[in-house]
Amino acid sequence: MTGSRRPAELYAGLRLHQNEHTGGCSPKVIEALAGLTGAQIAAYPPYTAAVEACAAHVGVTVDEVLMVNGLDEGILAVAMAFLRTQADGIVPEAIIPRPAFEVFDVAVSVVGASVVQVMPAPDFAFPLDDVLAAITARTRAVFITNPNNPTGVSTPVATIRTVARSVPPGAIVFVDEAYIDFGGEPFVRELADFPNVIVGRTFSKAYGLAGLRVGLLLGRPESLEPLRLAVPVYSINVAAAVAVVAAIEDRAYRDAYVREVAESKALLYEACARWGVHHWPSDGNFVLVRTGPRTPAILAGALARGIYLKDRSGEPGCAGCVRITTGVVAHTRQLIAAMEEILCGAR
Ligand SMILES: Cc1ncc(COP(=O)(O)O)c(C=O)c1O
Repeated sequence: MTGSRRPAELYAGLRLHQNEHTGGCSPKVIEALAGLTGAQIAAYPPYTAAVEACAAHVGVTVDEVLMVNGLDEGILAVAMAFLRTQADGIVPEAIIPRPAFEVFDVAVSVVGASVVQVMPAPDFAFPLDDVLAAITARTRAVFITNPNNPTGVSTPVATIRTVARSVPPGAIVFVDEAYIDFGGEPFVRELADFPNVIVGRTFSKAYGLAGLRVGLLLGRPESLEPLRLAVPVYSINVAAAVAVVAAIEDRAYRDAYVREVAESKALLYEACARWGVHHWPSDGNFVLVRTGPRTPAILAGALARGIYLKDRSGEPGCAGCVRITTGVVAHTRQLIAAMEEILCGAR
């Protein structure tokens, strides 16, 4: 069984390895946190304001929202609700197209279900035919990240519809939209027609709340019911519940960051073209680049300069690939300058 491994605590340098908001959260969030009273902190948290803000923000009703302590918790809840071994002893299967966010495997394994891997298609397009071929009577979940992590490649909504229509009764399709603020087409408006789809969102990326841990599970009320049982009633702390409202209200801050991410990606694409390094155009706040045999030198060189990058070489289709967060433009310029020094030295 794969286990959950918390990444090394690298906080002194430039964090381009976890796809966080590299500019920090909105000042409005800090103000809201500073306004918390002792009485609020001493009481179990109320959620009405946060759930209403989240529902309005996403465009669903309040009973189509379940707040979670980071989407990681939401993914575990999905596994607990849909992937436990059945009374008849059948071990459920979860289909995970590769490459994928590593937490899916951990959640599936921890509840004793089987991971069915589907290997990548050329250029990381969603491997629809192979996913459909992998569906069996034991399939209970299909995990799709849109746009995908670590590739940044989006999956068309029509493709997700096809998968949702092809899974057996009782199975769900989990659509992880952690990066949807940066690109790709959201599935949320389709939920009325697809009660077997659960959408995941997080405030860790475009809203800069990774340290507070706030995510959402979205779906038809009846589909969320088993998930509500899997999430502790007070899973979101009061600081997170207050912060998420302030983050949603400061739309301008989020929009400015989305524009900054687009500019950062364009700069990195240009740099990759100059270096002759392959990259995949990304709809996320990160870019996957194929640095090939120079990967260990690049990771070590970046680390020596206080820049943390994510080695994704171990994932199918990603040999010699590094994932780089593209947030604040000044950070991206710093990364590009460091890469230039390292690549010159590595020649
Ligand atoms: C695809 C995907 N889903 C979920 C998460 C986790 O989100 P959270 O910080 O809300 O737990 C991440 C974080 O990197 C991610 O990449």
